[in-house]
Amino acid sequence: MFFTLERDFISLIHALHHQNIQMITKIDNGTVIRMNLGLDGKHVLITGASGGIGLATARLFLEEDAKVTAHYNTNSKTVEELKELHSGRVFGIKADLRDASQVEAMFRRSMDHFGRIDVLVVNAGVWPENDTFVADMSLKQWENTLAINLTGAFLCCKYFFQNLREHQGEHASVIFVGSTAGVFGEAGHCDYSATKAAMKGLTLSLKNEIVHFARKGRVNLVNPGWTITPMAETSLSDEQLVKRVLQTIPLRKVATAEDIANIIVFLASDKVAGHISGQSITVAGGMEGRVLFTPEQIDLSEIK
Ligand SMILES: NC(=O)c1ccc[n+]([C@@H]2O[C@H](COP(=O)([O-])OP(=O)(O)OC[C@H]3O[C@@H](n4cnc5c(N)ncnc54)[C@H](OP(=O)(O)O)[C@@H]3O)[C@@H](O)[C@H]2O)c1
Repeated sequence: MFFTLERDFISLIHALHHQNIQMITKIDNGTVIRMNLGLDGKHVLITGASGGIGLATARLFLEEDAKVTAHYNTNSKTVEELKELHSGRVFGIKADLRDASQVEAMFRRSMDHFGRIDVLVVNAGVWPENDTFVADMSLKQWENTLAINLTGAFLCCKYFFQNLREHQGEHASVIFVGSTAGVFGEAGHCDYSATKAAMKGLTLSLKNEIVHFARKGRVNLVNPGWTITPMAETSLSDEQLVKRVLQTIPLRKVATAEDIANIIVFLASDKVAGHISGQSITVAGGMEGRVLFTPEQIDLSEIK
């Protein structure tokens, strides 16, 4: 993880030293500090590592010298590129998370390859793009979204926890990737929103289970807002939609995949986040909620 600094350099170094956080590379136009997050050698399994947020997360863990099981479903390209760049530290594996036997096999093969999995990032997911009110939503769409986003998450946790039971250790971490749709809801996407709200239930329950298998195990949830990835590409090319979205966001920008990956990696680090568990962190530029109507759609005569 890198930070560029212009001031307060000495006091920062003292603070970092005090926390046993390590140091430093100099570059010409500023100072870049490399914090040692204590993730070197950790085995991290990331679902959906072929996609926008998953890939950025995999890259960041690799920068921290972790070993990464990079899961994909249909797109092996980005994972193959990662493998080429980080020889010996990336294990790519294909699985459709709707299929329990494929998920089980993914965990077994991942453990055979790199040993105990220390960190699980439950990131894979789908967001059916068309706005569909519940009255018109097909049962097929509803079931498919739940199967990938929610049952897929359950299956990953099930086999991750079996891995912890099999290979006892002190630390372990699960990071779920939810969404602001699970925080504020999202009209036209109740299937997606329901799966993301459910991540909070998983987080709060599993934080109390994980400590039975890893005494200092932690479970947390990251809720991204709109983020520039293949999933959101079409929507974010609609200027009107972006303007509407930014009306409730004080930072008036959408996230990059790296914005989300930074928080995932931070939460995975026992060194800097070792006392954080059961928390939901929204990474959405301060988003307040949704703009539901245009001014023209408001009829002041209805106010009694
Ligand atoms: N982008 C946003 O604005 C945004 C906002 C809030 C939350 N999120 C959440 O962030 C997470 C990552 O999204 P992203 O934006 O990075 O999307 P993305 O680029 O579309 O990536 C989605 C990932 O999910 C995988 N996936 C899809 N269906 C799958 C299935 N049946 N089985 C296994 N894997 C499957 C994809 O694998 P393949 O490509 O290999 O098939 C891909 O790796 C998702 O959970 C999403 O809900 C995104």
